[in-house]
Amino acid sequence: MERRYPLGESRREAARLRAQAHLWDPESRGLFDRLGVRRGWRVLELGPGQGSLHLELRRRVRGPVDAVEPSPAFAARLKRLCARDGFGPGRLWAERLEDARLPDGAYDLIFARWVFLFLPDPAARVRRLARALKPGGVLAVQDYHRETLEMIPRPRDWDDFLAADRAFFAAAGGDASVGGRLPGLMRAAGLEVLPLAARLKSGAPGSPVWEWLSSYFLGVLGRYGSLRPLTPAKSARLARAWRAAARDRTSLIVAPAVLDAVGRRPRRAPAARP
Ligand SMILES: C[S@@+](CC[C@H](N)C(=O)[O-])C[C@H]1O[C@@H](n2cnc3c(N)ncnc32)[C@H](O)[C@@H]1O
Repeated sequence: MERRYPLGESRREAARLRAQAHLWDPESRGLFDRLGVRRGWRVLELGPGQGSLHLELRRRVRGPVDAVEPSPAFAARLKRLCARDGFGPGRLWAERLEDARLPDGAYDLIFARWVFLFLPDPAARVRRLARALKPGGVLAVQDYHRETLEMIPRPRDWDDFLAADRAFFAAAGGDASVGGRLPGLMRAAGLEVLPLAARLKSGAPGSPVWEWLSSYFLGVLGRYGSLRPLTPAKSARLARAWRAAARDRTSLIVAPAVLDAVGRRPRRAPAARP
């Protein structure tokens, strides 16, 4: 079955991704620092979207970076951006990760932020990506642990909203809270799992975190209304409560945590058991 990126490729979604990247790119740059991404590394990025981290990775390796990007609009933008920085074109698979014929043993780093939550069979994807790493190479994934999403004071329909949010991603074959599953999937694929880190942001009305989460959730709440246990009436009531909370400077929103899950391909295959 052809599955489309459930959030679409509109200009509005592209602008939302850029604003979201602005807020979160420092956390990804910190991860690249800790991994020691440097000149000459061979890197693959999955789902670069608007491409800010792709350009950052190219700057760090001082050369091209490969990508898998199924959105035609995002892939075209990526090509345009990469034509400007003088590092040359990387290989681009303009298709879903599930369909891309990746090389084996090729990469020092495979990186993905907010892509695994859309993937139907993350265990199979991690196994395939583990094979694409060089010995000693790392798979580094930043994705959500949705359970920390909270508004204080908690609106009446919040539990139903959280369930509808999970159902929205599940309906497209994904898992909105895939972050916490990734270390186990990496271990099962034969990778050595590095210590897990969680990035947690919160903010009051008017803060960048409040604006980021409000622009996303108020934008999709209408669609969430058809996902039980939410209903159109509950979703409209929650949207009103959300806007009322935005006028109260004592409100607080706690974002879904973003987990850094990193697995390293062993330099040598583990000794075979007798
Ligand atoms: C929420 S955006 C994140 C974009 C970017 N990684 C970032 O952090 O700003 C999700 C990205 O994953 C891509 N994507 C969705 N489904 C995919 C799939 N099956 N294989 C590869 N990429 C996918 C989308 O086209 C989009 O670029």
